[in-house]
Amino acid sequence: MAGNETTRNAITHGVRYLTEFPDQRAVWLADIDGVTKTAVEEIVRYSSPVIYMRRTLTAPTLLADQPLNAGDRVVLYYPSGNRDATKIPNPDLFDVRRHPNDHIAFGAPGPHYCLGAHLARRELSSMFRELLTRMPDIHTTAPPDLLLSDFVFGVKRQPCAYTPC
Ligand code: HEM
Repeated sequence: MAGNETTRNAITHGVRYLTEFPDQRAVWLADIDGVTKTAVEEIVRYSSPVIYMRRTLTAPTLLADQPLNAGDRVVLYYPSGNRDATKIPNPDLFDVRRHPNDHIAFGAPGPHYCLGAHLARRELSSMFRELLTRMPDIHTTAPPDLLLSDFVFGVKRQPCAYTPC
């Protein structure tokens, strides 16, 4: 599930973002090799396919003036962190050339950082390279039918169209 629900949903959201931001599609199409790396990172940030993880504190701490005790449960909301304007300039902008892109969609640095992050990047890069090469005008034709979930930002159905080459 870690490697499936995340990557395929990121790809689907990515196709929608290319529809909603045609200027960014044009930038990417103009230099597929040069832009794919940052574009894939931006799709993962902007979609944040995993919505949250929970942690149980092992020691007392202070978080944004809020005292927390050992045993307390805290929830990390990745989409929220990924739209934090103090960390990501102009976070509501989908920018395929964004660099640096210090998002936390794969988790924050630490022992549980996504084990499949490099594979996920490779999968998204390969898929978008093929999509943009073989069906460069692929676009969504209706809003997505979203999965009813507070854990995965998933898509059940996403109607699309493209011109066959
Ligand atoms: C866009 C794709 C992906 C996203 C957004 C994503 C996101 C995440 C997130 C947020 C975590 C939790 C990090 C934490 O608890 O601090 C995680 C953990 C994990 N991910 Fe991914 N993931 C993706 C793809 C994959 C793939 C392709 C695989 C494997 C094939 C994978 C395997 C794992 C595993 C095994 C963990 C648990 C690591 C641990 O707790 O030590 N993920 N991922």
